[in-house]
Amino acid sequence: MFQDLSTLPPDPLLGIAVAYKADTNPKKIDLGVGIYKTEEGTTPILDSVQQAITTLTETEDSKAYIAAQGNADYLAGMQALLLGSDNPLLTSGRISAIQAPGGTGSLRLGSELIAAAKPGATVWVSDPTWANHVPLMKSAGLDLKVYPYFDTETNSLKADEMLATLETLGENDVVLLHGCCHNPTGEDIPLDVWRKIIKLAVEKKFTPYVDIAYQGFGVDLETDVQGVRELAAAVPEMLIAASCSKNFGLYRERTGMIAVISEDADKAEAVRTNTLSIARGIYSMPPSYGAALVGIILKDEELTKVWKAELAEMCERMNSLRTLLVSKLKELGVEKDFSHIERQAGMFSFLGINKEQVQRLRDEYSIYMAGNSRINIAGISKANVEYLAESIAAVL
Ligand code: LMR
Repeated sequence: MFQDLSTLPPDPLLGIAVAYKADTNPKKIDLGVGIYKTEEGTTPILDSVQQAITTLTETEDSKAYIAAQGNADYLAGMQALLLGSDNPLLTSGRISAIQAPGGTGSLRLGSELIAAAKPGATVWVSDPTWANHVPLMKSAGLDLKVYPYFDTETNSLKADEMLATLETLGENDVVLLHGCCHNPTGEDIPLDVWRKIIKLAVEKKFTPYVDIAYQGFGVDLETDVQGVRELAAAVPEMLIAASCSKNFGLYRERTGMIAVISEDADKAEAVRTNTLSIARGIYSMPPSYGAALVGIILKDEELTKVWKAELAEMCERMNSLRTLLVSKLKELGVEKDFSHIERQAGMFSFLGINKEQVQRLRDEYSIYMAGNSRINIAGISKANVEYLAESIAAVL
Protein backbone atom coordinates (compact mmCIF):
# COMPACT_ATOMS: atom_id res chain seq x y z
CA MET A 1 0.00 0.00 0.00
CA PHE A 2 2.55 2.62 1.06
CA GLN A 3 5.53 1.54 -1.07
CA ASP A 4 5.25 4.54 -3.38
CA LEU A 5 5.21 7.18 -0.66
CA SER A 6 8.41 9.17 -0.35
CA THR A 7 9.58 10.99 2.77
CA LEU A 8 8.54 14.63 2.84
CA PRO A 9 10.74 17.55 3.92
CA PRO A 10 9.87 19.06 7.34
CA ASP A 11 6.99 21.58 7.45
CA PRO A 12 8.45 25.04 6.68
CA LEU A 13 7.27 26.43 10.04
CA LEU A 14 6.83 23.46 12.37
CA GLY A 15 10.23 22.08 11.29
CA ILE A 16 11.94 25.15 12.80
CA ALA A 17 10.76 24.24 16.31
CA VAL A 18 12.22 20.75 15.95
CA ALA A 19 15.61 22.07 14.79
CA TYR A 20 15.66 24.70 17.55
CA LYS A 21 14.95 22.12 20.23
CA ALA A 22 17.86 19.97 19.08
CA ASP A 23 20.33 22.92 19.19
CA THR A 24 22.55 22.85 22.30
CA ASN A 25 23.88 26.44 22.01
CA PRO A 26 22.83 28.26 25.23
CA LYS A 27 22.52 31.50 23.24
CA LYS A 28 20.00 30.06 20.77
CA ILE A 29 16.97 32.18 19.88
CA ASP A 30 13.66 30.89 18.51
CA LEU A 31 11.95 33.37 16.20
CA GLY A 32 10.09 30.60 14.34
CA VAL A 33 6.56 29.38 14.97
CA GLY A 34 4.04 32.02 16.04
CA ILE A 35 3.74 31.44 19.76
CA TYR A 36 3.66 34.28 22.27
CA LYS A 37 6.49 34.20 24.80
CA THR A 38 7.18 36.21 27.94
CA GLU A 39 10.46 37.94 28.76
CA GLU A 40 11.49 34.60 30.33
CA GLY A 41 10.80 32.78 27.06
CA THR A 42 7.81 30.83 28.38
CA THR A 43 4.21 30.58 27.19
CA PRO A 44 2.21 30.41 30.42
CA ILE A 45 -1.54 29.85 30.68
CA LEU A 46 -3.29 33.25 30.93
CA ASP A 47 -4.81 34.13 34.34
CA SER A 48 -8.23 34.55 32.74
CA VAL A 49 -7.89 31.07 31.25
CA GLN A 50 -6.75 29.66 34.62
CA GLN A 51 -9.86 31.07 36.25
CA ALA A 52 -12.05 29.60 33.51
CA ILE A 53 -10.31 26.22 34.02
CA THR A 54 -11.29 26.31 37.70
CA THR A 55 -14.91 27.07 36.81
CA LEU A 56 -14.99 24.37 34.14
CA THR A 57 -13.45 21.77 36.46
CA GLU A 58 -16.11 22.53 39.06
CA THR A 59 -19.04 22.52 36.67
CA GLU A 60 -18.33 20.05 33.88
CA ASP A 61 -20.28 16.92 34.69
CA SER A 62 -19.93 14.81 31.55
CA LYS A 63 -17.59 13.94 28.74
CA ALA A 64 -20.41 13.07 26.35
CA TYR A 65 -20.11 14.66 22.90
CA ILE A 66 -20.89 18.35 22.62
CA ALA A 67 -23.24 19.55 19.86
CA ALA A 68 -21.75 19.17 16.38
CA GLN A 69 -22.08 22.93 15.85
CA GLY A 70 -20.10 23.60 19.02
CA ASN A 71 -20.40 25.37 22.35
CA ALA A 72 -23.22 27.96 22.16
CA ASP A 73 -21.60 30.45 24.58
CA TYR A 74 -18.36 30.24 22.67
CA LEU A 75 -20.00 30.82 19.30
CA ALA A 76 -22.06 33.76 20.57
CA GLY A 77 -19.06 35.32 22.33
CA MET A 78 -16.78 34.94 19.33
CA GLN A 79 -19.26 36.45 16.88
CA ALA A 80 -19.75 39.43 19.21
CA LEU A 81 -15.99 39.82 19.57
CA LEU A 82 -15.44 39.80 15.83
CA LEU A 83 -18.43 41.78 14.64
CA GLY A 84 -19.30 43.90 17.70
CA SER A 85 -21.94 42.96 20.27
CA ASP A 86 -24.50 45.43 18.86
CA ASN A 87 -24.02 44.38 15.23
CA PRO A 88 -27.45 43.72 13.64
CA LEU A 89 -25.90 40.79 11.74
CA LEU A 90 -25.79 38.83 15.01
CA THR A 91 -29.59 38.63 15.17
CA SER A 92 -30.26 38.59 11.43
CA GLY A 93 -30.17 34.81 11.03
CA ARG A 94 -27.67 35.36 8.20
CA ILE A 95 -24.67 33.88 10.05
CA SER A 96 -23.80 30.21 10.23
CA ALA A 97 -21.13 29.87 12.94
CA ILE A 98 -19.52 26.52 13.61
CA GLN A 99 -16.80 25.68 16.13
CA ALA A 100 -13.83 24.00 14.47
CA PRO A 101 -10.46 22.58 15.53
CA GLY A 102 -8.22 25.66 15.52
CA GLY A 103 -7.69 28.25 12.82
CA THR A 104 -6.49 25.58 10.41
CA GLY A 105 -9.57 23.40 10.95
CA SER A 106 -11.78 26.45 10.45
CA LEU A 107 -9.99 27.42 7.24
CA ARG A 108 -10.25 23.86 5.98
CA LEU A 109 -13.99 23.68 6.67
CA GLY A 110 -14.53 26.98 4.86
CA SER A 111 -12.42 25.78 1.94
CA GLU A 112 -14.33 22.48 1.70
CA LEU A 113 -17.58 24.44 1.78
CA ILE A 114 -16.43 26.65 -1.12
CA ALA A 115 -15.33 23.57 -3.08
CA ALA A 116 -18.72 21.92 -2.47
CA ALA A 117 -20.69 25.06 -3.36
CA LYS A 118 -18.70 26.09 -6.42
CA PRO A 119 -16.33 23.40 -7.71
CA GLY A 120 -14.62 25.74 -10.23
CA ALA A 121 -13.96 28.54 -7.73
CA THR A 122 -10.55 30.21 -7.54
CA VAL A 123 -9.18 31.44 -4.22
CA TRP A 124 -6.84 34.42 -4.40
CA VAL A 125 -4.23 34.62 -1.66
CA SER A 126 -1.85 37.47 -0.85
CA ASP A 127 1.73 37.27 -2.09
CA PRO A 128 3.13 36.25 0.35
CA THR A 129 0.74 34.50 2.69
CA TRP A 130 0.87 32.08 5.65
CA ALA A 131 2.84 29.03 4.51
CA ASN A 132 -0.03 26.64 5.29
CA HIS A 133 -2.73 28.50 3.33
CA VAL A 134 -1.66 27.09 -0.01
CA PRO A 135 -1.41 23.33 0.78
CA LEU A 136 -4.50 23.53 2.99
CA MET A 137 -6.68 25.03 0.27
CA LYS A 138 -5.23 22.85 -2.45
CA SER A 139 -6.08 19.80 -0.34
CA ALA A 140 -9.69 20.95 -0.42
CA GLY A 141 -9.47 20.85 -4.23
CA LEU A 142 -9.49 24.62 -4.74
CA ASP A 143 -7.69 26.44 -7.50
CA LEU A 144 -5.27 29.03 -6.09
CA LYS A 145 -3.90 32.28 -7.49
CA VAL A 146 -1.98 35.12 -5.85
CA TYR A 147 -2.67 38.84 -5.71
CA PRO A 148 0.21 41.32 -5.15
CA TYR A 149 0.51 42.34 -1.51
CA PHE A 150 3.95 43.17 -0.16
CA ASP A 151 6.93 44.84 -1.78
CA THR A 152 10.08 43.30 -0.31
CA GLU A 153 12.23 46.05 -1.88
CA THR A 154 10.47 48.92 -0.12
CA ASN A 155 8.92 46.92 2.75
CA SER A 156 5.48 48.34 2.04
CA LEU A 157 2.00 47.35 0.93
CA LYS A 158 1.46 47.05 -2.82
CA ALA A 159 -1.96 48.63 -2.47
CA ASP A 160 -2.38 49.81 -6.06
CA GLU A 161 -1.26 46.50 -7.58
CA MET A 162 -3.48 44.56 -5.19
CA LEU A 163 -6.53 46.68 -6.05
CA ALA A 164 -5.78 46.42 -9.77
CA THR A 165 -5.85 42.61 -9.51
CA LEU A 166 -9.03 42.56 -7.43
CA GLU A 167 -10.62 44.78 -10.07
CA THR A 168 -10.34 41.90 -12.57
CA LEU A 169 -12.20 39.35 -10.39
CA GLY A 170 -15.77 38.12 -10.60
CA GLU A 171 -18.36 36.00 -8.84
CA ASN A 172 -16.44 32.71 -9.13
CA ASP A 173 -13.54 34.22 -7.19
CA VAL A 174 -12.82 34.13 -3.48
CA VAL A 175 -10.32 36.56 -1.95
CA LEU A 176 -8.52 35.44 1.18
CA LEU A 177 -7.77 38.48 3.36
CA HIS A 178 -5.88 38.55 6.65
CA GLY A 179 -8.20 40.33 9.10
CA CYS A 180 -5.25 41.98 10.87
CA CYS A 181 -1.59 41.33 11.73
CA HIS A 182 -0.74 39.93 8.30
CA ASN A 183 1.19 36.67 8.51
CA PRO A 184 4.05 36.62 7.48
CA THR A 185 4.73 40.32 6.78
CA GLY A 186 3.08 42.26 9.64
CA GLU A 187 1.98 44.75 6.97
CA ASP A 188 -1.68 45.54 7.51
CA ILE A 189 -4.24 47.03 5.17
CA PRO A 190 -5.02 50.65 6.13
CA LEU A 191 -8.71 51.52 6.50
CA ASP A 192 -8.84 53.59 3.30
CA VAL A 193 -7.55 50.58 1.34
CA TRP A 194 -10.02 48.25 3.12
CA ARG A 195 -12.76 50.57 1.90
CA LYS A 196 -11.54 50.29 -1.69
CA ILE A 197 -11.47 46.49 -1.36
CA ILE A 198 -15.01 46.56 0.05
CA LYS A 199 -16.21 48.67 -2.88
CA LEU A 200 -14.64 46.20 -5.32
CA ALA A 201 -16.10 43.18 -3.50
CA VAL A 202 -19.58 44.70 -3.85
CA GLU A 203 -19.09 45.74 -7.49
CA LYS A 204 -17.27 42.68 -8.77
CA LYS A 205 -19.19 40.24 -6.55
CA PHE A 206 -16.16 38.22 -5.42
CA THR A 207 -16.48 36.48 -2.05
CA PRO A 208 -14.22 37.68 0.77
CA TYR A 209 -12.74 34.99 3.00
CA VAL A 210 -11.19 36.52 6.12
CA ASP A 211 -8.59 34.66 8.16
CA ILE A 212 -8.31 36.26 11.59
CA ALA A 213 -5.96 34.68 14.09
CA TYR A 214 -4.47 37.73 15.81
CA GLN A 215 -7.36 39.98 16.88
CA GLY A 216 -6.01 42.21 19.67
CA PHE A 217 -2.35 41.71 18.75
CA GLY A 218 -2.17 44.68 16.35
CA VAL A 219 -3.57 47.84 17.96
CA ASP A 220 -6.50 46.61 20.08
CA LEU A 221 -9.53 44.32 19.86
CA GLU A 222 -11.76 46.93 18.19
CA THR A 223 -9.32 48.70 15.86
CA ASP A 224 -7.96 45.40 14.55
CA VAL A 225 -11.34 44.36 13.11
CA GLN A 226 -12.61 47.69 11.80
CA GLY A 227 -11.97 46.71 8.17
CA VAL A 228 -13.56 43.29 8.69
CA ARG A 229 -16.66 44.82 10.28
CA GLU A 230 -17.14 47.32 7.47
CA LEU A 231 -16.70 44.50 4.97
CA ALA A 232 -19.29 42.34 6.77
CA ALA A 233 -21.76 45.21 6.73
CA ALA A 234 -21.36 45.75 2.99
CA VAL A 235 -21.23 42.38 1.26
CA PRO A 236 -24.03 39.80 0.86
CA GLU A 237 -21.75 36.84 1.57
CA MET A 238 -18.39 36.25 3.23
CA LEU A 239 -16.51 33.71 5.30
CA ILE A 240 -14.54 34.34 8.50
CA ALA A 241 -12.14 31.77 9.93
CA ALA A 242 -11.15 32.75 13.48
CA SER A 243 -8.65 31.27 15.89
CA CYS A 244 -8.21 31.60 19.68
CA SER A 245 -4.73 30.06 19.64
CA LYS A 246 -2.88 33.35 20.03
CA ASN A 247 -5.17 35.88 21.72
CA PHE A 248 -6.37 33.38 24.35
CA GLY A 249 -3.07 31.46 24.34
CA LEU A 250 -5.00 28.22 23.70
CA TYR A 251 -2.72 26.85 20.98
CA ARG A 252 -2.91 23.16 21.86
CA GLU A 253 -6.64 23.25 22.57
CA ARG A 254 -7.42 23.77 18.88
CA THR A 255 -10.08 26.43 19.31
CA GLY A 256 -11.47 28.00 16.16
CA MET A 257 -14.66 29.03 14.40
CA ILE A 258 -15.86 29.25 10.83
CA ALA A 259 -18.57 31.89 10.48
CA VAL A 260 -20.26 32.28 7.11
CA ILE A 261 -22.46 35.27 6.35
CA SER A 262 -25.12 34.47 3.75
CA GLU A 263 -27.61 36.57 1.81
CA ASP A 264 -30.54 35.48 3.96
CA ALA A 265 -31.53 33.08 6.72
CA ASP A 266 -32.52 30.28 4.30
CA LYS A 267 -29.09 30.33 2.64
CA ALA A 268 -27.45 30.46 6.07
CA GLU A 269 -29.30 27.27 7.02
CA ALA A 270 -28.10 25.58 3.82
CA VAL A 271 -24.55 26.69 4.63
CA ARG A 272 -24.83 25.51 8.24
CA THR A 273 -26.10 22.03 7.34
CA ASN A 274 -23.54 21.61 4.57
CA THR A 275 -20.67 22.70 6.82
CA LEU A 276 -21.80 20.28 9.52
CA SER A 277 -22.01 17.47 6.98
CA ILE A 278 -18.41 18.23 5.89
CA ALA A 279 -17.24 18.29 9.52
CA ARG A 280 -19.04 14.98 10.16
CA GLY A 281 -16.98 13.41 7.40
CA ILE A 282 -13.69 14.65 8.86
CA TYR A 283 -13.91 14.69 12.68
CA SER A 284 -17.64 14.55 13.61
CA MET A 285 -17.71 16.79 16.70
CA PRO A 286 -15.26 19.52 17.68
CA PRO A 287 -13.07 19.21 20.79
CA SER A 288 -14.79 20.73 23.80
CA TYR A 289 -12.16 22.11 26.17
CA GLY A 290 -10.74 25.29 24.60
CA ALA A 291 -14.10 26.58 23.37
CA ALA A 292 -15.67 25.89 26.77
CA LEU A 293 -12.97 28.06 28.39
CA VAL A 294 -13.42 30.91 25.91
CA GLY A 295 -17.20 30.62 26.35
CA ILE A 296 -16.79 31.00 30.12
CA ILE A 297 -14.50 34.02 29.74
CA LEU A 298 -16.62 35.87 27.21
CA LYS A 299 -19.85 35.29 29.13
CA ASP A 300 -18.40 36.76 32.33
CA GLU A 301 -17.86 40.53 32.28
CA GLU A 302 -15.20 40.51 35.01
CA LEU A 303 -13.26 37.66 33.45
CA THR A 304 -13.46 39.34 30.07
CA LYS A 305 -11.84 42.41 31.65
CA VAL A 306 -9.01 40.27 33.02
CA TRP A 307 -8.50 38.69 29.61
CA LYS A 308 -8.56 42.04 27.77
CA ALA A 309 -5.90 43.42 30.12
CA GLU A 310 -3.69 40.35 29.51
CA LEU A 311 -4.18 40.66 25.77
CA ALA A 312 -3.30 44.37 25.85
CA GLU A 313 -0.15 43.52 27.80
CA MET A 314 0.96 40.95 25.21
CA CYS A 315 0.28 43.46 22.42
CA GLU A 316 2.20 46.25 24.17
CA ARG A 317 5.13 43.98 24.86
CA MET A 318 5.42 42.97 21.21
CA ASN A 319 5.24 46.60 20.10
CA SER A 320 7.97 47.57 22.56
CA LEU A 321 10.15 44.70 21.29
CA ARG A 322 9.73 45.99 17.74
CA THR A 323 11.08 49.38 18.88
CA LEU A 324 13.85 47.76 20.92
CA LEU A 325 15.18 45.66 18.04
CA VAL A 326 15.17 48.56 15.59
CA SER A 327 16.97 50.84 18.06
CA LYS A 328 19.59 48.18 18.91
CA LEU A 329 20.36 47.75 15.22
CA LYS A 330 20.68 51.51 14.85
CA GLU A 331 22.95 51.71 17.90
CA LEU A 332 25.25 49.17 16.26
CA GLY A 333 25.57 51.46 13.26
CA VAL A 334 23.72 49.13 10.87
CA GLU A 335 22.92 51.10 7.75
CA LYS A 336 20.17 48.88 6.40
CA ASP A 337 16.74 50.36 7.12
CA PHE A 338 14.72 48.20 9.53
CA SER A 339 12.18 50.90 10.42
CA HIS A 340 9.32 48.89 8.83
CA ILE A 341 9.53 46.49 11.81
CA GLU A 342 8.57 49.31 14.16
CA ARG A 343 5.70 50.45 11.93
CA GLN A 344 4.20 46.98 11.34
CA ALA A 345 1.77 45.13 13.60
CA GLY A 346 1.20 41.81 15.31
CA MET A 347 3.46 38.88 15.83
CA PHE A 348 5.48 38.90 12.62
CA SER A 349 7.67 40.96 10.33
CA PHE A 350 10.13 40.15 7.59
CA LEU A 351 13.68 41.02 8.60
CA GLY A 352 14.27 41.57 4.92
CA ILE A 353 17.50 39.58 4.67
CA ASN A 354 18.23 36.93 2.04
CA LYS A 355 18.06 33.13 2.34
CA GLU A 356 21.83 32.77 2.80
CA GLN A 357 21.80 35.29 5.64
CA VAL A 358 18.88 33.45 7.28
CA GLN A 359 20.86 30.21 6.98
CA ARG A 360 24.01 31.83 8.45
CA LEU A 361 22.05 33.14 11.42
CA ARG A 362 20.89 29.59 12.02
CA ASP A 363 24.18 27.76 11.39
CA GLU A 364 26.59 30.23 12.98
CA TYR A 365 24.48 31.97 15.63
CA SER A 366 21.70 29.48 16.47
CA ILE A 367 19.04 32.04 15.58
CA TYR A 368 15.99 30.37 14.05
CA MET A 369 13.42 31.98 11.76
CA ALA A 370 11.39 31.05 8.68
CA GLY A 371 13.32 30.84 5.37
CA ASN A 372 11.63 34.02 4.09
CA SER A 373 13.19 35.91 7.08
CA ARG A 374 9.86 36.08 8.97
CA ILE A 375 10.56 36.62 12.65
CA ASN A 376 8.24 35.99 15.57
CA ILE A 377 8.59 39.29 17.45
CA ALA A 378 7.58 37.61 20.72
CA GLY A 379 10.74 35.48 20.56
CA ILE A 380 12.82 38.62 21.19
CA SER A 381 13.54 39.61 24.80
CA LYS A 382 15.54 42.27 26.63
CA ALA A 383 17.99 39.51 27.46
CA ASN A 384 18.59 38.33 23.89
CA VAL A 385 18.10 41.47 21.79
CA GLU A 386 21.76 42.52 22.02
CA TYR A 387 22.99 39.13 20.74
CA LEU A 388 20.27 39.11 18.09
CA ALA A 389 21.12 42.58 16.78
CA GLU A 390 24.87 41.83 16.78
CA SER A 391 24.29 38.59 14.89
CA ILE A 392 22.08 40.28 12.31
CA ALA A 393 24.71 43.01 11.88
CA ALA A 394 27.37 40.32 11.41
CA VAL A 395 25.60 38.54 8.56
CA LEU A 396 24.54 41.67 6.66
C1 LMR B 1 2.64 30.46 12.49
O1 LMR B 1 2.40 31.02 11.42
O2 LMR B 1 3.79 30.33 12.93
C2 LMR B 1 1.52 29.94 13.33
O3 LMR B 1 0.29 30.27 12.75
C3 LMR B 1 1.64 28.51 13.66
C4 LMR B 1 1.40 27.61 12.48
O4 LMR B 1 0.57 26.72 12.62
O5 LMR B 1 2.04 27.77 11.44
